[in-house]
Amino acid sequence: MNNPAPIRTAKALAPPKGLHHTAYVTHDVEGTVKFYTEVLGMPLVSAVVDDAVPSTGDPWPYVHLFFEMGDGSTIAFFESVGLPKPSPVSHPAYNIFNHIALNVGSRAEVDRWIERFQALGVDYIGPTDHGIIYSVYFHDPNGIRLELTADIDLNWRDHTAEATSDIESWSKAKRRAIEMGDTGELIAWVKERRGQHKK
Ligand SMILES: [Fe+2]
Repeated sequence: MNNPAPIRTAKALAPPKGLHHTAYVTHDVEGTVKFYTEVLGMPLVSAVVDDAVPSTGDPWPYVHLFFEMGDGSTIAFFESVGLPKPSPVSHPAYNIFNHIALNVGSRAEVDRWIERFQALGVDYIGPTDHGIIYSVYFHDPNGIRLELTADIDLNWRDHTAEATSDIESWSKAKRRAIEMGDTGELIAWVKERRGQHKK
């Protein structure tokens, strides 16, 4: 980008309205269709095929498929031919922290999904009560970590000032941990702050 306008003077726009689609590579399009349509009940609503990537021109033939959720947003996949499997992650935390969470509306609905997973033999972790949301975790056939969740604190999005302060404190503690080669102070701050959250 050439000489981007400073953020404060750039023309203000409304934030994005919501998720249109998120997209991942699959090596198992058949298993992916079965899982999203039969286990999660998300209809296959569109598929695009091409012999090259429109945005870049890369000559990779692919099928691009979309599964729809209740609000019209979609989860999408690409399958190509001859792609090597992805490299393993450098730390198992990536396989836990990286995930996509889908809103099922209520705590009772999360519990109903757990009953469904039990009936279908789908491995899951949970339910987990996070205080603000209530969740169950599982994986799709591509190894993508998914979460079905519901708000239990309807005001959980109303904490911008505390969040901004937490990020500043975290950043300071993180820099100090890196400088010192020791996470002791950072962990002490996290524990103290977490205790305040739970009041
Ligand atoms: Fe999550």
